[in-house]
Amino acid sequence: MLSKEQNEYLTRVGPGTPGGELMRRYWHPIYTDAQLREKPVRKVRILCEDLVLFRDRSGKLGLVQERCPHRMTSLSVGIPEEEGLRCCYHGWLFDSEGQCLEQPLESSSRNFRDRVKIKAYPAQEMGGLIWAYLGPAPVPLLPRWDLFVRQRGFRQIVGHQLPCNWLQAMENRGDLGHAVFLHGRLFQYDLERKGRLTDDPNARYNATMTDHHKLKDKNVQIKYRPIFNEFGFTKGSLRSDQSEESRTWTVGMNPIIFPYLLAFGPEEGDGRIRRSYQFGVPIDDTHTWHVQYFCYVFPQEVAVPFQDVPPYVEMPLKDENGEYILDYVLAQDMVAWAEQGEIADRSQEQLGASDSLVVAYRNLLKSQIDLVQQGREPMNVFRDPARIDSPELTIPGNEGPAPVRDTMYGAAVSYRENFHKESKGGWLYIDDDADRCCPDRDLIVEMFRAAELVRAKQAERA
Ligand code: FES
Ligand SMILES: [Fe+2]
Repeated sequence: MLSKEQNEYLTRVGPGTPGGELMRRYWHPIYTDAQLREKPVRKVRILCEDLVLFRDRSGKLGLVQERCPHRMTSLSVGIPEEEGLRCCYHGWLFDSEGQCLEQPLESSSRNFRDRVKIKAYPAQEMGGLIWAYLGPAPVPLLPRWDLFVRQRGFRQIVGHQLPCNWLQAMENRGDLGHAVFLHGRLFQYDLERKGRLTDDPNARYNATMTDHHKLKDKNVQIKYRPIFNEFGFTKGSLRSDQSEESRTWTVGMNPIIFPYLLAFGPEEGDGRIRRSYQFGVPIDDTHTWHVQYFCYVFPQEVAVPFQDVPPYVEMPLKDENGEYILDYVLAQDMVAWAEQGEIADRSQEQLGASDSLVVAYRNLLKSQIDLVQQGREPMNVFRDPARIDSPELTIPGNEGPAPVRDTMYGAAVSYRENFHKESKGGWLYIDDDADRCCPDRDLIVEMFRAAELVRAKQAERA
């Protein structure tokens, strides 16, 4: 439980707020390159600021204040020129640094033009995303996290603008236990209501519940702890029937990379195809752009088409009747976060032992906000070019060969390798998760099939 003041301290992201000042120390993904290529001038809102993102005809990115300083029309209806963005109303032209370059209807002096400068922030492209930095100089380096830059990855970006504060999505990252009910029991209930529930033991919803009941029958308890590293922490979990030497306890899983990147691994092993990040970018105090960034890494032998730009799709949260979509994993998460309220009232909550990782994240967040308030630099601000290439691969367990499977849940974990197989209900396992929304879903299914053949041949030879 937090006091109302503590809750504000952690959740607010506007200019001048403690949390907003922390967030202004990081580069944030604000848009996708795929969308910007379709239309090179876009309105964006990030950390409570209304801005316009553009790519001029020379290919240069710009991120400037939304309002034209002449008579305040929105630059989002502007025209990208060879250099800079031109206001649609009277033609004032601004470059990526916000400097006014032309005032074509003014006959008067150059001085006026030179004195006009609008707010502008640095922006750059990485991994099919446009990243922005809204903080003080000197501008830090953009860390090249592994999946954004990895060679031979097939990328897909799926997202949704959620009507809630970013911390709700983030707290879910530490909430390992929720999978049993949100992705098991609720999943079953939703399919039951639609007449689609099957007894397929390999389906995610049944496998999760089977595991849960087995543990309950044996009176096995699970405890959690954060395992801190230089970028954040991995999530340690230990069943009461496991040894403390277990990798789930010593290495942990699903690194949280501060402030809000979640990486899946390392427990799934080095040979895994489906890798992804999830992140919830604070648009403002009550809106979050939640993204799942997929990077499928198929065996060398599988033909993977060249991607100029990773495609993006906005996932729906509700169906045509206005009802929540609840029959895949990420949708279940998004609905749970949104339904905590615009900003969850943490002064009313009652936390249990299973929430210890949620508390660990809050404490980490508070400590980093405090640092900025003291005029110091928070974690994960990169200034050394030698340290920005896939830095998280140095997290223990992320390097080296595939570890022996040693996971919290036995049956549920392998279904992601069976995405191309048909479940008893007649749909493919890929449709149990957000991967089903990927623009290239069918192609991904084909490549999973091809990968299985490759592996079968390798097994034959071995
Ligand atoms: S309002 Fe933009 S040039 Fe006049
Ligand atoms: Fe979840």
